Amino acid sequence: MVRALTHGRLPDSRERILLDDLDQTHFDEASPQAEPDGSTPAAKRVFIKTFGCQMNVYDSERMSEVLAAEGYVETDTPDDADLAILNTCHIREKAAEKVYSDLGRLRDIKSARAKGGKETLITVAGCVAQAEGEEIVRRAPAVDLVLGSQSYHRLPELLGRLRGGEAALVETAFPDEDKFQALPERATAKAVTAFLTVQEGCDKFCTFCVVPYTRGMEYSRPVASLVDEAQRLVQRGVRDITLLGQNVNGYHGEGLDGASTTLAGLIGRLAAIEGLLRIRYMTSHPRDMSDALIEAHAREGKLMPYLHLPFQSGADRVLAAMNRKHTAANYLALIARIREGRPDIALSTDIIVGFPGETDADFEATLALVREADFAHAFSFKYSPRPGTPAATMDGQVPEEVKRQRLERLQEVIDAGYRRFNGACVGKRLPVLFEKVGRHAGQLVGRSPYLQLVHAVADPALIGHVVDVEIRTAEPNSLSGVICGQS
Ligand code: 5AD
Ligand code: SF4
Repeated sequence: MVRALTHGRLPDSRERILLDDLDQTHFDEASPQAEPDGSTPAAKRVFIKTFGCQMNVYDSERMSEVLAAEGYVETDTPDDADLAILNTCHIREKAAEKVYSDLGRLRDIKSARAKGGKETLITVAGCVAQAEGEEIVRRAPAVDLVLGSQSYHRLPELLGRLRGGEAALVETAFPDEDKFQALPERATAKAVTAFLTVQEGCDKFCTFCVVPYTRGMEYSRPVASLVDEAQRLVQRGVRDITLLGQNVNGYHGEGLDGASTTLAGLIGRLAAIEGLLRIRYMTSHPRDMSDALIEAHAREGKLMPYLHLPFQSGADRVLAAMNRKHTAANYLALIARIREGRPDIALSTDIIVGFPGETDADFEATLALVREADFAHAFSFKYSPRPGTPAATMDGQVPEEVKRQRLERLQEVIDAGYRRFNGACVGKRLPVLFEKVGRHAGQLVGRSPYLQLVHAVADPALIGHVVDVEIRTAEPNSLSGVICGQS
């Protein structure tokens, strides 16, 4: 399915990596790393597989940090893992089902290791854990721990209880304590870019979406704790931070003065951090795109000209049934206003085809909106009924084959837009923040302000710096160019 997700940009950890793209499973990869002398390794090993969105990427990093404080080291194969964690996504059926097939393989690894006297604790974390709870242990009895997304900080305690002989534990409550406060200081960020979760949960209740049920009501972290975390990231070399939230532009955290602060206010505060060069945020809802935030795009130099703003459908009837609370015309008017202040902004979006009741005419309206809005990038999905959501039981469910055909047509239009956007960069000078060495000798890889991957021959000393690059070629997944001079 997710063709639209893999083109345009490489699916790395900076991307909105959804579902199958993150199928970077290591199950098929080779073999446990034995100690040189053949002895059992001293450190406990944890294998973490992340499905879904960047929020899960962030959560996996934080779980890894909690476990590092307990003496765990990460392994990229489950075969030698004392603890295997699947950090799951529930947004579409396919994603949830993949968890169960992975659990089958983990069960086999667990019993093979048990024969050699080695224990393997299997944990299911994330949104499937939150949504299915006990059901997971019933379907997959090899699972030891089902861990909701608000309880990661309790991992050491829960693992201790399991090792003490307790039977399978299911922890999916939304506790009163703030997990962000209870998590250890961030330690692993050595990269130039980082995610920072500023907001979790969603109160919008789009009728197709499980997020309000799996991640709960909106919660915004206080500005002070975010500034503190951002400062620490910058001290460790991070230059580009993406603020994450399921409904990030609905952010309303406690400000330094105790009053509620908007996302625009938070961005202003973070922009004052010296050494932080770039700020991004995702995912936004059109309804929460405030004047102040639009203004920030025009005014705040550190806020990158890239905005992920899902519209889901171009037909007002479908939008109403989706409970999106905006129309196609509202959406187009909104992006026109955003572009007034920041004409070069790259817009990306999410689109669902085959929502219940979607007619051919509705689908044509979606195509028309995509053509008119001129997206730099778009993620497109076939509607997937999610148990417990209102749309799952709506009349007019669309046959799979129709969804497939619509998705294919939509992706052609998306592709054309994306080729236009990348192609238009050839000959331009773009400020590129270099992130790492590239695959080819002498080459570095970085990002343009519009989140495109850019390759250029450059000194590794430039990693972490913004350098002007003259773009020479636009390839399927990236741009290439030559360095002009440091800016
Ligand atoms: N079916 C298909 N796509 C979905 N999304 C969310 N729920 C569903 C579903 N049930 C898509 C939306 C959302 C993105 C993260 O995933 O487009 O913006
Ligand atoms: Fe789901 Fe986004 Fe709608 Fe919230 S706004 S219910 S996260 S699609």
